[in-house]
Amino acid sequence: MPTDTKTVTNAITDALNWRYAAKQFDPSKKISASDWQVLEEALRLTPSSFGMQPYKFVVVTDQKVKEELVAACWNQPQAAQCSHFVVFARNTDITVETVNQYVELIAKTRNVSVESLKPLHGMMSGFISGSTPEKLAEWAARQTYIALGNLMTVAATLNIDNCPMEGIVAADVDRILKLNEKGCSSVVACALGYRAADDKYAGLAKVRFSKDDLFINI
Ligand SMILES: Cc1cc2nc3c(=O)[nH]c(=O)nc-3n(C[C@H](O)[C@H](O)[C@H](O)COP(=O)(O)O)c2cc1C
Repeated sequence: MPTDTKTVTNAITDALNWRYAAKQFDPSKKISASDWQVLEEALRLTPSSFGMQPYKFVVVTDQKVKEELVAACWNQPQAAQCSHFVVFARNTDITVETVNQYVELIAKTRNVSVESLKPLHGMMSGFISGSTPEKLAEWAARQTYIALGNLMTVAATLNIDNCPMEGIVAADVDRILKLNEKGCSSVVACALGYRAADDKYAGLAKVRFSKDDLFINI
């Protein structure tokens, strides 16, 4: 735990003010392997409903593929200019078998018996089998946004720029990245790298509602 909470809070607030949705990246600047490891861990450690992590993080660094993705991203140049383009994809093959495998992982990780996890298994499998495919797709998609938020915040603390992107045509991104055959489907994306020196959006003041408008304190 940090001992000086005030300093940490200020550093995080500074990072959150520093970040913005970058519209132009400097294509010559790449995220270092060590920074990328931190970002990967931020994604991996993201909490999710039941801890089921019903998603894949598809990381595109291949320049040709990034360029191909531009057309599938409403012609937004960030997809090609960035260092790493992350597609958040929801798993499409969520079944009771997924729950079985997850419960086995919990048992192994925490050194407990599968039998002792029966109530948890029952709750999760009840949720999965009681949900329509549409509800499961929406549930899984919602989880991906938590990872997106985590990624943007952690990137900002490392002075890595990013642009969250809902402006994608999921079917086209899926086709280019062959996601359907990988058991997943794209939801949202995030371009990461370093802002171009002439990105005029970098200097714009943040537009946010006031605390009074946003918070209801009870
Ligand atoms: C889920 C999500 C999807 C977004 N999609 C796009 C996008 O496709 N293209 C883009 O340029 N900005 C996109 N944005 C950026 C927002 O417009 C931006 O975050 C918002 O206006 C606040 O500005 P700031 O991030 O610069 O502080 C998206 C943001 C979020 C959170």
